[in-house]
Amino acid sequence: MGFLLPLSLLVLLAVAYPGGRSARRCWAARAQSPGGSSPTLSATTAPFWVRISPNFIAVRPGSSVWLNCSSSCPLLEGSTLHTGLRRGQKLSGPSWISFQLLDVRAWSSEVHCFLTCAGVTRGATARIHAYKPPHRVILEPPVLEGREHILRCHVTHVFPVGFLVVTLQRGGRVIYSESLERFTGLDLANVTLTYKFQARPHDLWKPVTCHARLNLDGLVVGSSSAPVTLTSWAWSPASKALASTSIAAFVGILLVLGAVYLRKYLLMQSEA
Ligand SMILES: *[C@@H]1O[C@H](CO)[C@@H](O)[C@H](O)[C@H]1NC(C)=O
Ligand SMILES: *[C@@H]1O[C@H](CO)[C@@H](O)[C@H](O)[C@H]1NC(C)=O
Repeated sequence: MGFLLPLSLLVLLAVAYPGGRSARRCWAARAQSPGGSSPTLSATTAPFWVRISPNFIAVRPGSSVWLNCSSSCPLLEGSTLHTGLRRGQKLSGPSWISFQLLDVRAWSSEVHCFLTCAGVTRGATARIHAYKPPHRVILEPPVLEGREHILRCHVTHVFPVGFLVVTLQRGGRVIYSESLERFTGLDLANVTLTYKFQARPHDLWKPVTCHARLNLDGLVVGSSSAPVTLTSWAWSPASKALASTSIAAFVGILLVLGAVYLRKYLLMQSEA
């Protein structure tokens, strides 16, 4: 047990660098049966269905999306949209309305559209998720400072940080794991985890890797660093004694928000 002993831990969060265009990824839309549910449909009116398309979409944070709310109604009398997201342009036809939503930043948003046909209103719901898997996970070679080794793991361009778990493994075994759920910022972020420990002889030459994982309500995305190994070891009689006692871990956090960086990032995305 306890090959690597946490003496102090430091998590640094910095606003993501605005580069790195990446393809928008859509999750497979859930099967949707035509027809929303509306209790207002009466037996005396012709039934009609309302559909929203896509009804499930995942985008990069800050993106805009178009949703098309369509129906089997030959001539709609009205439409309403319920959403907390910012609205953009609108297009419509006799039986459909298509609308743009801007700057999707929240990790998960719900959009309801209601269409009225022959005095009857029916609705359909779409869910929009915004996320960005880590661009890179980089584990720096361990640095020996005095008797301590320092491991630094950088996770770049990730969102939402609150769903991120950064794990250090030695030979496939978890030596440290940090969940960043306390971070609720709406920006892409760079995360740096600094892990200090006192190595013991058998820690030498064993591969250490860093893993960044976003667990998004069941969808897990992430990546891992290349392995690094400890090649030097500062032996002292104290290190063995230290290793067998428990030492409180210390976590320090710095969070910087960056609307400017995000805007640039979005510009690059829209040009992409
Ligand atoms: C975020 O990480 C990228 C890639 O390593 C780097 O170029 C950029 O400077 C970082 N941004 C900040 C604000 O630290
Ligand atoms: C919206 O959907 C309807 C029905 O499928 C289609 O006829 C219409 O062209 C779509 N509008 C846009 C802007 O995509």
